[in-house]
Order: sequence, then structure tokens, then C-alpha cells
Amino acid sequence: MHVLSIFGTRPEAIKMAPLVIALRNEPHLRSSVCVTGQHREMLAQVMQLFDLHTDHALDVMRPDQTLNGLYARLIASVDEVLATVRPDCVLVHGDTTTATACAMAAFHRRIPVGHVEAGLRSGDLQSPFPEEMNRRFVDAVATWLFAPTVTARDALQAERLPGRIWVTGNTVIDALATTVARLAADAGLARTLAQRHGWLDPRRKLVLVTGHRRENFGEGFRGICAALRTLAGRSDVQIVYPVHLNPQVHDVVRATLSDLDNVHLIAPLDYLDFVWFMQRAHLILTDSGGVQEEAPHLGKPVLVMRDVTERPEAVAAGTVRLVGTSPERILTEAARLLDDDAVHAAFGDRGNPYGDGHACGRIVDALCGRPVAELAATPTPNRVRFS
Ligand code: UD1
Ligand code: UDP
Repeated sequence: MHVLSIFGTRPEAIKMAPLVIALRNEPHLRSSVCVTGQHREMLAQVMQLFDLHTDHALDVMRPDQTLNGLYARLIASVDEVLATVRPDCVLVHGDTTTATACAMAAFHRRIPVGHVEAGLRSGDLQSPFPEEMNRRFVDAVATWLFAPTVTARDALQAERLPGRIWVTGNTVIDALATTVARLAADAGLARTLAQRHGWLDPRRKLVLVTGHRRENFGEGFRGICAALRTLAGRSDVQIVYPVHLNPQVHDVVRATLSDLDNVHLIAPLDYLDFVWFMQRAHLILTDSGGVQEEAPHLGKPVLVMRDVTERPEAVAAGTVRLVGTSPERILTEAARLLDDDAVHAAFGDRGNPYGDGHACGRIVDALCGRPVAELAATPTPNRVRFS
């Protein structure tokens, strides 16, 4: 069977990287990779880090691209690849425009689709927008549904979809575990990173921030930035915010926060560097999906600056709290985690519901028709704890 993996954004590349490597190592499959280029710089970093080879490169990114413009370019350009390669299976990931357009293009050509990270649901089509619609669409046409958790499987079963479901764990934990192991095994690399980020003050608590979601544009980002301005007034913290390259995010964040000494607005970090920062964070403030899944593995408390999440498992476990985007709420919850060591310890010590680092092996087994030892519902213990 020839499996064509298609991805185009930073999180898709991180989450597909260990799977592409596992597919490459599987003798019963032929694997090739199409990179759509929905992201450019942020994608290139990941390809390099995981040493991923691209067989088919599209060039769809435009500055400040619209969803429809992007979708149209994707459909037209990926169709040429499908017509030439004629794969037996197309693998897409998650809920991006790349995943949706490529699943649609494969469907039109009657090529079976495998959906990695299937079954996530917020229940609100407006949030995350447009991702909630995207993932519903991909799940509807997929033949193979790789659900990261039992909750995701239950959501898929409730929709009575035609695809076959496996609970695999999230491949992001495979990517993170490999990266953590690489950092732990290579003292020279750890030293290089410590030197590169030597401006960090070890006496201050690190608050790591990311934010980029469309539904937070406007009022949401104003609230987030107002909260960060106030939080930056505390002398015991330092705020590090690698700013997403989307101009809708970048321009607002830089205009609002760049005058503050205690807020370090930096370029998007390479994944290796970002993991290094997560390991050192006292607290993470984010609206990112992937970071919500990674932080519990590292035993790090996360405040999610959104009103709903399609990743309820860590909220239920108590390592993640949904705080919305009102400055008052963000500040109250952040203060609890900064001022009360017992609250902080309890947050970070609840296990990781998103995987055990073996998701990719399960997906490859399923594609090869072998029996799959699915992931159980019980959270696995935090793999690594850093104080
Ligand atoms: C996309 C995904 C979102 C995912 C996010 C991860 C959709 C609808 N959205 O949102 O689900 O969480 O990626 O980051 O698919 N840009 C660059 N260089 C880059 C990347 C982006 O300059 O390497 C700028 C460009 O101006 C681009 C803009 O960011 O037009 C927006 O990129 P786009 O992929 O459309 O949306 P994201 O907000 O990144
Ligand atoms: N990430 C990164 N560098 C950064 C910020 C995040 O490598 O500067 C990683 C992070 O660890 C996670 C992924 O990017 O694996 C999340 O991507 P993003 O927040 O762009 O998208 P989402 O997960 O919300 O779809």
C-alpha cells in the first residue's frame, strides 16, 4: 500500500513527523510526503529538526491569506499530486485548511483517507473557527479514524460515521517524548540551548505564552494583552511570548506589548527550543491545541485562554483550566498558580491523558491490517517533571 501523508502547518508537521518516520521504517508500506506549504518559516523549522524528506512540495502560502483563497489554491495544487502519485491512502492530520482541502481532493478522486487526530469536538462551530467544521468534515469522509483518546472515539461513535475507529493516543506525545529524550541525552545540545537563551533570569518564574486563534482576534487578543500588561508588573515573573507570524496576531501583540521590559516578544521558536522553554515554565498561558496536550506530559500547569475546548481530558484531570480571555479571570487564575505552591503542585501532577508515546506504532499497525493494542482510558503518569 502506498501511503501519501499530506500536511502544511507547524502543528501538523510536529504531529506527523514521528508518524512519517514510522511509516518510512515499515517494510509493508510505501510512504511518501506532500507538504502543502500552508505555513512557510514555521513549517521549515520542523522539517529540518525531524529530518523529514519532502517528495511533493506545494507553495500555497500568501501573506495574510484568506481561508477561501488558501482552500482554492490547495484543492487545485494537491489534485495534480494525487493525479500523478495515485496513492492507495492519503493521511491528513487534525483540523487545518490543508487537512480539509486535501481530504476533499482525495474524496473526489475516490482515494481512501486516514484521519490522524480524529474525533475532537468542542460542540461549537464558531470555536475553534473554522477548525470545528474542518475536523467534522474530514471525519465524515475518512476510512481510517485514528482517535487520540477514548473521549474522541466516543464522539465519533455517537456520529455513526462509516470509518473504522482506533484509539491510538496523540502522536504529539510521540514527538514530544523523542524531543525530551534528545535533550536529555545530549549535554552539548542542552548547553547550547542554555547559552542561546542565557538572557532568561533563573530567579524569576517563567510564564510562557502562545496565542493565535482566529476566534480570539479583536476583543479576545485585547483581553489577553491587557492581562499580560498587568502580569508583567510583578517583579517575580518574566513573560516569554514567541509570537505567531500571522499578521493579525503579530501586529496587535507587538503594538500592545513591545514597550514592556518584562515581556519578551520573540520569533516563533524551533520545536526543540520551545520544548526547552516548556520544561522551564512555571506556568503556560495559551490558546494552542498542541500545547494543551504537551504540557501535561511535562507536568506543567496550563491556563487555556479560550471559552471552550475540544480537548476536555486534561481539564477533567485538573492539569488544564479554561479561563477565557477576560483579563480579570486570567490574572486571578495566574496569581493562584504563581502564589500558592500547593495549587501549583496539584495542577502539574495529574498524569497525561493524551498518550503514551506509542501512537504512531498503533497507526502503522492499523494501516497494515495487524491487530492494534489500543490506548486505555486511564491517564499515563507524567513522564518528566521539571521544577
Ligand atoms: C493555521 C490553522 C490553525 C492552526 C495554526 C497553527 C487553519 C484554518 N488554521 O492558522 O488551525 O492552529 O495554523 O499555527 O488551517 N504566516 C507566515 N509564515 C508562516 C506561517 C504563517 O508568514 O510560517 C502568516 C502568513 O501571513 C499567513 C498567516 O500567517 O497568511 C496565516 O496563516 P494560516 O495558516 O492561514 O493561519 P494560522 O492562523 O496560522
Ligand atoms: N510550538 C513551537 N514553537 C513555538 C510555539 C509552539 O514549536 O514558538 C509548538 C508547540 O510545542 C506545539 C505546536 O507548536 O507542538 C502548536 O502549534 P500551534 O500553537 O501553532 O497550533 P495548534 O496546536 O493550536 O493547532
